Amino acid sequence: MENKAINPLISPKPSEAKPDTELESLRIWGKHPLSGHVHISGAKNSVLAIMAGALLCPQHCRLRNVPSLADIAKMRQVLEALGVKIERHNDTLELDTSHLSTSKAPYDLVSQLRASFFVTGPLLTRLGTARVPLPGGCAIGARPVDLHVRGLQAMGAEVHIEHGIVHADIRGSGGRLKGAKIYLDYPSVGATETLLMAATLADGETIIENAAQEPEVEDLANFCRAMGAKIRGAGTNTITIVGVPNLHSVDYGIIPDRIEAGTFLVAGAITHSEISISPVIPEHLTPVIAKLKDIGSEIVLDGPNRLRIIPGELRATDIETLPYPGFPTDMQAQLMALLTLAEGNSVVTETVFENRMRHVAELVRMGADIRIKGQNAIIRGVSHLSGAPVLATDLRASAALVLAGLAAEGETLVQGLHHLDRGYDDLETKLKGLGAKVQRVSP
Ligand code: EPZ
Repeated sequence: MENKAINPLISPKPSEAKPDTELESLRIWGKHPLSGHVHISGAKNSVLAIMAGALLCPQHCRLRNVPSLADIAKMRQVLEALGVKIERHNDTLELDTSHLSTSKAPYDLVSQLRASFFVTGPLLTRLGTARVPLPGGCAIGARPVDLHVRGLQAMGAEVHIEHGIVHADIRGSGGRLKGAKIYLDYPSVGATETLLMAATLADGETIIENAAQEPEVEDLANFCRAMGAKIRGAGTNTITIVGVPNLHSVDYGIIPDRIEAGTFLVAGAITHSEISISPVIPEHLTPVIAKLKDIGSEIVLDGPNRLRIIPGELRATDIETLPYPGFPTDMQAQLMALLTLAEGNSVVTETVFENRMRHVAELVRMGADIRIKGQNAIIRGVSHLSGAPVLATDLRASAALVLAGLAAEGETLVQGLHHLDRGYDDLETKLKGLGAKVQRVSP
């Protein structure tokens, strides 16, 4: 192995004291086949919404299969700032939500984690008031919350934004939101989850039309039902919630993370390796499996919740991201990394977020041939990628760069690991378990 060390300070200019992981990098020696099995952790995007959902119940909630992620640690801080008592034992969280001390979520925490805006609906419907900073945009898009706000207003809340803070209050009507019929202009995951949670304690029936159908929305609904909520149609585009006066404590297990699972399937395809993953819910991966088959891999069911990928020659294909059950935007970057090595030309179209192509420049740094035209990336397959120092710009972009590094000749240094740590539970240990040559390095 040629050990010409790559200078980690090539591109990022540290501007302020940043959490260590921001300055950490992952060194990857590519072109090593993977083999064996990898365990898939609980779903980040379920846990974040469900942790906020625990605020609906004035008792105690136990959440099992909770991954160790920076985002979940941040959400814990937000809930503790509201007065929730939280203990963690391995992958189990114990939440005591009986005594909330405030309905104001702290700016410094909310500004670091968009998902903390999910506390708005539960605080408002339980306490009759909520003060939550606007989450603001992020690397992948403006990410407005207008659909959340309009839905809460339709349920009778008074909502206005003042100095960057969303002020939401229930005036009169016995201090409860009112059931309402709400049509979402876009099947937003976050807006569906906010309104679903708010409606659980409302007075009357709420119908959310053009609702998001993501598995994480269904998982949140199942969690609320386990606490006694009356919800029908979660997982379809029409969800009906009949409000109840209160909810009770629950012990709930989180679904497996379909995006982590999809990322490992791509790790198998891009390194031409046969690996297996579990636990997974195969239906949740239907669009990803369909595309991996188009590209030339075989995916077999090795048991009720276990998948195995058998690699094949990589062929080009086109991908368009869409709300579920369409192809997930959270897998776009990873599939793009794979298509850089596929025979022929592929077009990847991102329709969900307006700025989710920032991994392209870094993949090109590794020798990929990609041109961007608006929301389309035109990819001409190349015979190989070369290792290089690259910079992660967001969570899924970081995963794509790690995958490209596993397939590249020589050494890749992925910088900005704080993005990766937000959504992947101990990725490098899992990759090492499959035989990958990776090492986390800090300056
Ligand atoms: C959730 O974000 C996920 N995050 C995202 O995962 C995921 O990419 C996204 O859903 C789509 O699947 C969590 O669950 C914590 P949206 P969310 O509301 O709820 C627009 C990852 O990598 N919109 O469905 O914010 C919005 O701007 C992350 O794990 C409005 O215009 O997504 C976007 O273009 C990234 N107004 C589109 O809808 C609104 O009020 C989809 O957003 C709300 C959204």
